[in-house]
Formats: sequence, C-alpha cells, structure tokens
Amino acid sequence: MTTTDATWWRQAAVYQVYPRSFADADGDGIGDIAGITSRVPYLARLGIDAVWLSPFYPSALADGGYDVADYRDVDPRLGTLEDFDAMVAALHAQDIRVVVDIVPNHTSDQHEWFQEALAAGPGSPARDRYIFREGTGPGGAEAPTDWESAFGGPAWDRAADGQWYLHNFAVEQPDLNWANPEVRDDFVRTLRFWSDRGVDGFRIDVAHMLTKDMSEPLPSRAELDAMPRDGAHPLIDRDDVHEVYAEWRQVFNSYDPPRTAVAEAWVDRARIPLYARAESLGQAFNFDLLEADFAADQFRRIVTENLELAASSGSSTTWVLSNHDVVRHATRYGLPHPERDADGRPALKHGNEWLLSGGRQPRLDRAGGLRRARAATLFVLALPGSAYLYQGEELGLHEVAELDDADRQDPTFFRSPGQDLGRDGCRVPLPWTRTGGSFGFGADGAHLPQPAWFGQCSVEAEEEHHDSTLTLYRRALALRRELQSVEQLTWIDAGRADVLWFERPNGWTVVANFGTEPFPLDRADIVLASTDVPIGVVPGESTVWLASR
Ligand code: BGC
Repeated sequence: MTTTDATWWRQAAVYQVYPRSFADADGDGIGDIAGITSRVPYLARLGIDAVWLSPFYPSALADGGYDVADYRDVDPRLGTLEDFDAMVAALHAQDIRVVVDIVPNHTSDQHEWFQEALAAGPGSPARDRYIFREGTGPGGAEAPTDWESAFGGPAWDRAADGQWYLHNFAVEQPDLNWANPEVRDDFVRTLRFWSDRGVDGFRIDVAHMLTKDMSEPLPSRAELDAMPRDGAHPLIDRDDVHEVYAEWRQVFNSYDPPRTAVAEAWVDRARIPLYARAESLGQAFNFDLLEADFAADQFRRIVTENLELAASSGSSTTWVLSNHDVVRHATRYGLPHPERDADGRPALKHGNEWLLSGGRQPRLDRAGGLRRARAATLFVLALPGSAYLYQGEELGLHEVAELDDADRQDPTFFRSPGQDLGRDGCRVPLPWTRTGGSFGFGADGAHLPQPAWFGQCSVEAEEEHHDSTLTLYRRALALRRELQSVEQLTWIDAGRADVLWFERPNGWTVVANFGTEPFPLDRADIVLASTDVPIGVVPGESTVWLASR
C-alpha cells in the first residue's frame, strides 16, 4: 500500500463499520473483528478508501461501545489484539486505510480509573481524573446543578459516599477531567498505541466537550443555555480544547504519513474551522445534510457554505447522509413529516405517531424514500471532499422501526423514557444472504432482531441485480476514483430551481433533479444514473453523471 500519501483523506470514501452489527464470525450473535476480516473482499469490491470502526474496545455496552472500559484493548466478545492486527493487515493489503474511534469525553463506569475513584473517596487523586462535586441542599442530597444529560435526565449521579459525578451522556459514562495531566498523558499513550499498530486515523467522539470550566459557583441550566458559545462557554466548544488537539497533532505528525483525525463537533458553523485546521485535528464533520430535506435549495446552500468553510481552514469537507446516530437516509426521505428532536435532527416518535411502514407503519413511502436516497447519494459522491458512508446504506436499507421495546438497547430510548425510539433501528446487523437464521450475519441469532424484509436487501440478493443499490454504489465508487480531481466545482444554471447542475474541472458533470417533473437533457454521455433514465430527460428525483464531452 502507498504509505507516503499524506493527503489520502482529503477526498476519501470512508465506510463506517459498526462492528457489533457487521459480521459475526464466531456465531455468538455479536459482530466481531474476525467477521470484518472475513468481509475484506466485499469492502475491496465496494471500492472504498478507508473504514472507520466505531468502538470495539472492552465495554459494558451501556451506549453501544461508546462507554469504553479499556482504550488499549479489544472487547473479548469481538476478538483479540492479534485479530485486530490481522484485520488491519488484510485491509491494508487491499489499500484500505483504517480509522478508529476515540472517546475522550468520558470513560465507562467500568473503567479501572472510575472504579478506583469510587473506592478512593472524596479529595483523592483518583477522583480528580473525573468531575466529582458535593451536592446541594440538606445533606448534599441534591445534585450540584440542574444540568441535563444529552440522553435526557440529570447530568449528575451520586456515588455511595454521597459525592456526585458529572456524566453528560449516560450514567455509565462519567466525564473525564481534562484539567488533569494524567488524563491528557493517557490519551497520548492511546493514540500512539493504535498508531503504532498501523491505524491510519482517528474519529474523535464529542470533540467539542472535553475541557470544562468547573469553577464555582456553577451556573444553572438556564444560565448555561443563555451563554454564547463563543469559546468561553463552561461546557461546550471551549477555545482551550485546542490545546489538547495541538498536542495530539504533534503525535499524529510524528508518524509517516501523519495520522489523520476528524472531529465530531456539534458547534456553530463558524467555529468548525478551528477543529479542521492543520494545527488541530485536520478535518471536522459537516453534518448539515443529516438535518436537510431532499430539496435543491438546501443542498446547494449546504454545499456552497461547506466548501467555503473547509477552504478557509485548508481542510476538505465531509459529506454524511447516514451514520449510527440517525435515522437512515432512505427512511428520512420517505417520511411525510420527519419528526425532529430538540437539536433539529430527524427523530422517530413512539406511541401513536408511528411514521414508518411495513404493516405497523403505513406512512413510510419505501420506494420514494429509496429513490431520493439514491439520488442524494449520487449527488454527494460527486462532490469535492470526503464522503462518509454508513454500513448498509449501500444496500439501500431502511431504518428498522419494528423492533420490540424489549429488544431495544439504546440509552436514549430508556432515558427519554420511551418517547425517543433511539438509534437501534439503524444498528440492526447487516443481511448478507437472502435466507438463514441471521441472513448470513452469523450463525443463528443477531443481537438486534432482523426483519423479514432484510433478505431482499441482502448482499446476495443485490449482487444479482444490475439496478440494485449495491451495484449503484460499486459503480459510483469506481468512477469516483477515476474522476477525482482538484477540489472544485462550478455551478451551471439549470434554469429550474429544483435542479442542481455542476461540473468538476476534469469535465465530470452532475445533474440532480430534486423535483418530480422530468428535466429535459439531451445528452448521450450519461455514465451513471440513480434510476432508469429514458432518452432525453432526467426523471424526477434522480441524479445523473455525465462524462466530459
Ligand atoms: C456518538 C454516539 C455516542 C455519544 C457519546 C456520539 O456523538 O456518535 O453514538 O452515544 O457520542 O459517546
């Protein structure tokens, strides 16, 4: 593999593997590292440049692995470090880079540091690695503040000896104290540990929340909400977090080629370049398309703004239509009125407001959602910047909404409680074959039940069809490699508000019809289309790629 190309990430197609739900080699119902290795030929054939693995570390799975009990090991249910090395070797042999997830805002409550902190008691150095405080009210029985966790419910929990600890996510995810040098040193060790094992880059979880100003008196929730997010907010997107990343950058740059990093930072758009600068993490996620409707004006604005933003930091932007935290895009685009959560992200509501189809969910337009998803994907894969794909989207999978409450695992479901269906519906194990106990995922069972309709979306079923979504992704990714060029595009006026038309400098042209009326286009040089294209028009809700004249 090319080890000297330091810019591979700029326009890479990165495929997100959610390890527990990808492929299960040992048949225990949970996907594993050996399963990923066994599917390297599939990944190579797909034509991606890198995989990003969601956490595979030892974890009690209170938050799907984002509660890490040991940052420098593999969960025994998923394999061993030797399995990990074999997987990296197999991926590298196919020229596929490996990106791993680093979760630095919080550990698992099972992490030896947290167990030590609980045992050591108030005022101890072990407690100082986390954020412990005395409570308020008589006997300190009330939490230090009224802050809320991102998953709902209070952001503090009480230790047996009466002190309270901060957890911005689940109770089982205590926040680390980034003012403690031991915490900083330990993460540098972790970054080196995986870099030395050949990992090419890192995805940094909740990158905007590590450093905190916990000086007394602590503000109330209302006060926090009213504070500007200008770099001095006590909890979110503080300027001093970049001192951490400046140190990490030195670590990354001590490798050849330098290790890459991408920030998961939900911050004001204007502050994204701070994370994407070469001196910091080098790239930051742009999640705008996760919140957008399938609409030309929104797509055009998002593309223009994000290309400018990335250019201002010298980075490249990232396009994301689906990931492990959101409703799959085929489903989002098939819902009549996507419900939105407090942050504006599409959410599925519980109770009588079921919006998904499949018997229980009559309001999902399955075919329409998939048609629009394919058009959006083809549009996005032609853009300058890197494209992050989420496992299963290449099969056109819909969200699995018909999970029984008893099968759900996501803490957002339990902490809402039950009001937010949570993220399990996009995390159901992949179908590889038409039939079989777990559609080829493993032996018989899968840790989240797969619906009957998974068989027809399986890799096996889709490989048989020239117009399947899998075939579309394979062709698009192969062409994308050939056509990739300077990171620029030029908009062409299509003469219609619902049609976007752009050219890349090498003559690669893209026409996306977001409307329902056919768009006349008299070109014989169409190389790829998201749907069947009759001569002379781009049908509604379709994208076509044209070769240079
Ligand atoms: C991850 C989530 C996770 C959260 C807490 C995120 O942003 O993508 O899956 O629940 O961080 O670690």
